[in-house]
Amino acid sequence: MRIDIVTIFPTFFDALDISLLGRAREDGILEVGVHDLRDFTHDRHRTVDDKPYGGGAGMVMKPEPWGEALDAILGEQVPDDGADREGGPIVIFPSPAGEVFTQAMARELSAADHLVFGCGRYEGIDHRVFDYAGSRASVRLVSLGDYVLNGGEVAVMAMIEAIGRLIPGVIGNPESLVEESHEDGLLEYPSYTKPASWRGLDVPPVLMGGNHGAIATWRRDAQIERTKSVRPDLLPPAQSP
Ligand code: ADE
Repeated sequence: MRIDIVTIFPTFFDALDISLLGRAREDGILEVGVHDLRDFTHDRHRTVDDKPYGGGAGMVMKPEPWGEALDAILGEQVPDDGADREGGPIVIFPSPAGEVFTQAMARELSAADHLVFGCGRYEGIDHRVFDYAGSRASVRLVSLGDYVLNGGEVAVMAMIEAIGRLIPGVIGNPESLVEESHEDGLLEYPSYTKPASWRGLDVPPVLMGGNHGAIATWRRDAQIERTKSVRPDLLPPAQSP
């Protein structure tokens, strides 16, 4: 997969050099390009924002640098002819006004060949940028959740980590992905390791008994109990309290 990121804080993404995603880049599974939006400006101050039309607080990101950045990244890949975009690049703008990011969306996006993330700052990006990007590629506005961040960088980092680890070959043991929170619509069960007793707290005996059926039942019940108490909204109607 190729990932391009447009931001005014390129060093923010230095963290992609480390850990699992850093290794995936070394192995050639993941290719990442980080682009400084200010490199696509032409004035002395490398200006990327201006006052909003209609008034109001804060500044809005200007469309011109965004248009040039998107042209440079998308190149000739997708002609502006309204053709079917299936399988083409997907441009994602993190925004508190977007659809909420989920594990299902991470899995869907992990199958793409090319993702482009555009990190907004200030009061947002001139809306015509989304329309223009939509004429060149599939566009999605995606929110990390119902709260407001100062800009899109943190949200993009979170999305790249969630998507990247689902790309085949990035995680050594793909079985470890199967029993995680959100993969089967429930929160994951609690895990334990040695010692069996620690500071007066014991590992549930069933996990040490070697009865695989009993362990599976205990884990499933623990998942349902945990989901009921912390995230009842995730349960199908029949299991809701
Ligand atoms: N930018 C600002 N707030 C955000 C959020 N909640 N999700 C994604 N991008 C954002």
